[in-house]
Amino acid sequence: MTTGASSSGAWWEHAVGYEIYIRSFADGNDDGIGDFVGMLDKLDYLQWLGVDVLWVTPFYESPMADWGYDVANYTAIDKTYGSLTDFDAVIEKAHALGMRVIIDIVPNHTSDQHEWFQAALRDPSSDYRDYYIWHDAPEDGSLPNNWVGYFGGPTWTLEPTSGQYYLHLFLPEQPDLNWRNPAVQAEFENILRFWLDRGVDGFRIDVAQALVKDEQLRSNPQLSPVDDSMERWEQWNSFEHEHDILQPETLAIFQAWNRIASEYDALLLGETYDLAQLEKLDRLLSNGDALHVGFWFGAMHIDWNADSITSTLALPLSKISAGLGWAQNSHDEPRSVTRFGGGDLGQQRALALAVLLFGLPGMPFLYQGEELGLKNGVIAAEEKLDPVGGNDPTAGRDGTRTPIPWEPGSGMGFTDSFVKPWLPFGDRADAETVSVQRNDADSSVHRYRRLIEVRKSLAHIAPTLLEWIDDVPKNMVAFRRGDVVFLANISQEAAPVLLGGELLYSTTDSGRESRGIIGPDEAQIRLVLDS
Ligand code: NOJ
Ligand code: CA
Repeated sequence: MTTGASSSGAWWEHAVGYEIYIRSFADGNDDGIGDFVGMLDKLDYLQWLGVDVLWVTPFYESPMADWGYDVANYTAIDKTYGSLTDFDAVIEKAHALGMRVIIDIVPNHTSDQHEWFQAALRDPSSDYRDYYIWHDAPEDGSLPNNWVGYFGGPTWTLEPTSGQYYLHLFLPEQPDLNWRNPAVQAEFENILRFWLDRGVDGFRIDVAQALVKDEQLRSNPQLSPVDDSMERWEQWNSFEHEHDILQPETLAIFQAWNRIASEYDALLLGETYDLAQLEKLDRLLSNGDALHVGFWFGAMHIDWNADSITSTLALPLSKISAGLGWAQNSHDEPRSVTRFGGGDLGQQRALALAVLLFGLPGMPFLYQGEELGLKNGVIAAEEKLDPVGGNDPTAGRDGTRTPIPWEPGSGMGFTDSFVKPWLPFGDRADAETVSVQRNDADSSVHRYRRLIEVRKSLAHIAPTLLEWIDDVPKNMVAFRRGDVVFLANISQEAAPVLLGGELLYSTTDSGRESRGIIGPDEAQIRLVLDS
């Protein structure tokens, strides 16, 4: 079976991405919060690492109810992160170093503090009212429909002055925009141009699957009962998401964005977070004439067995015609080293999975600190800052968002030694820091750097389709792209490598090569004779 998107020849086709969660990356003014000045200083490191595209998470003016994913002004930088001049300096230096920068755009919702929402509240007859989605309170006291939010709980909040409900798929502080209103579409086209004119190379589009909602706001078919005590994904999965997300009208919006992006040769990368409705997702991605690349999030939920890995990777390749973005980590999920058992084992598995993701057709992404082999930071219950999980001290995304440990010492090279970072470092050892790892050729950062280097040297495989290799031992995942084979041994037993070829990369020390075996949880890249 061969799978994979066809080649477009675009600059992102063989690029390696890197997610910068700005708040936790590097602090340039010693207030304990990452910012653009701090980022500027670390661009040389990213160039050394070898990544091609930086995705910067939201830095816009925001009350930070969802740490920046609640935007109060789409064309202003939050003063916590610096100024437009600082932003321009990052873009300029990144370009000078040969890297591109894409920025996170959040079009599904604004902050409740955005002037559009404030105007809509002040005057229900203003044009801004229809920028959002309102519903009269049903007379029987029920909610307008049965939709549940991505963070759990109902998606409707009553606005007491008008007596109407407004819709929010996330927090009440994040009211959803009404993308059926052409004025909203026009606003965002201007916002895109504002940043493209400043030199950005594209956008990562937050919640791309959900912009348009059912015109009649019909209830979703319910699959099983829900209650508030259920975990947020359990609540979400209790419904068939027929009317709240993946509406066909979304396509025309992204086709219009595509026309704008084309003028600038810019990338549109969608956070297309849905694992269940691939046909609809494919229509939204539409062969790349709308969003160029859609993230596939299966690898964030993969179980450590060969069947789960193969099927999770093969599914989108066989169903999605546009480009795919691959990531096993982000600021939203526990770090994969932790998910795979922590310690050396977790690190080895995360690196092995990275080898597979780097071999797939599409764009692999690393999340800051992944290259260091970081596990989740340890956060005490009273230090919880993430709104996800409400008051549950054990829930939330803080552990994956702890600041990057750059150097040993009390400020960890992230901030000044006397400053308390916005989130604790989470119990980092010196060996986890960038400076210690850079001085050790066997460290995680060197292994990731070599992986990036090998992948870059294989640009010729970009247009090739993927062929799964079936005649391998049972616990092996293996596929071929042209004359290159990517394989991982998903077991605790060493196995013979029958494919031969030249070893280009191994996740462990290369001594095994001479013995022709692949060790437990090891992954390799091999150059084989073309057939
Ligand atoms: C996805 C973002 O990655 C996440 O951090 C955020 O909370 C939601 N979208 C809402 O914007
Ligand atoms: Ca700062």
